[in-house]
Amino acid sequence: MRVNGHHTRSIRLDDDGARVVIVDQTRLPHEFVTRHLASAEDAAQAIRDMWVRGAPLIGATAAYGLALAMMEDESDANLARACALIGEARPTAVNLAWAVGEMRALLGPMAPIERPETAYAAAATIADEDVAINSSIGDHGLELFRAFAAHKKHGETLNILTHCNAGWLATVDWGTATAPIYKAFDAGVKLHVYVSETRPRNQGASLTAWEMANHGVPHTLIVDNSAGHLMQHGMIDLVVVGTDRTTANGDVCNKIGTYLKALAAHDNNVPFYVAAPSPSIDFSIEDGLRQIPIETRGAEEVTHVSGLTRAGRVETVRISPDSTAALNHGFDVTPARLVSGLITERGVVKARREALADMFPERIVKN
Ligand code: MRU
Repeated sequence: MRVNGHHTRSIRLDDDGARVVIVDQTRLPHEFVTRHLASAEDAAQAIRDMWVRGAPLIGATAAYGLALAMMEDESDANLARACALIGEARPTAVNLAWAVGEMRALLGPMAPIERPETAYAAAATIADEDVAINSSIGDHGLELFRAFAAHKKHGETLNILTHCNAGWLATVDWGTATAPIYKAFDAGVKLHVYVSETRPRNQGASLTAWEMANHGVPHTLIVDNSAGHLMQHGMIDLVVVGTDRTTANGDVCNKIGTYLKALAAHDNNVPFYVAAPSPSIDFSIEDGLRQIPIETRGAEEVTHVSGLTRAGRVETVRISPDSTAALNHGFDVTPARLVSGLITERGVVKARREALADMFPERIVKN
């Protein structure tokens, strides 16, 4: 990711080789602030309080959190405790359970003394693999975008809609939905991105818009409710979003509001693509609506908003009556039938069980 022209990652080891450095995403876009994580508790808090967020980055943070835990105390008891603590930090993105499962399977059988070094190496591998996966998603998405630009737009600007932040900040680097955008933009494809604000936490307004501005990608912020209207007026050529968990049959769970965009896209014949790295595909479940746990977050995220005042201070204000209750489901499920294709690191695939099984045969769960 490019921050003020310099390349960095959203998570990395500090120069001391022990502590973990993350970007505190709750401070963006007004301030770029990094924080140090020094324990499993810090990692769990960073995930829970959304200093880090986005499915792949949550997975990488969990892996580094377990490395931090092993550095403090490499015993069996501490491994079990740290896996439980970090594994429960947020429920929906499968990358968290996936990363904890990978680390536990690796560290559990080995002699405790070997665990700290192995854990750091494994966390670094998970982070590096995420970068490689997203870069491949970018390459496949670039071809898709190029084809759209050439055959549908004939050199005119390609208008892309994205929701939430499936960008650099949601991953270790590149982003998932944004990787094709960055690669296409860098390759000279004429494009423009509509960024939907993504109430209640506004990850689109505060994170995706910030990323686009940093990369120099032409973009326009829209309110969540306007996407259908823009599609009816031919202002959106394709939609690309991320995913927190995709089932074996292609149902996609992503940030709340994704489903409504998919419905509007379907009604207006706008292609709806999901950038889906394989660690976010949960091959153990089939039915997204019934089997994916949907996170419920605090009411205050709905009843209050934060922003920069004219005086230059970040302040939080209430926007609803004091006595009004609020409901805050963080994610929704888009049925596979509304998804035009999944852009994976191995190529673009239909959101169908057989197609996914053909592309990832080694992940198929045998009964
Ligand atoms: O609640 P968040 O901000 O963690 O939700 C993030 C999203 O829904 C992203 O779109 C998703 O994780 C895909 S990230 C590449």
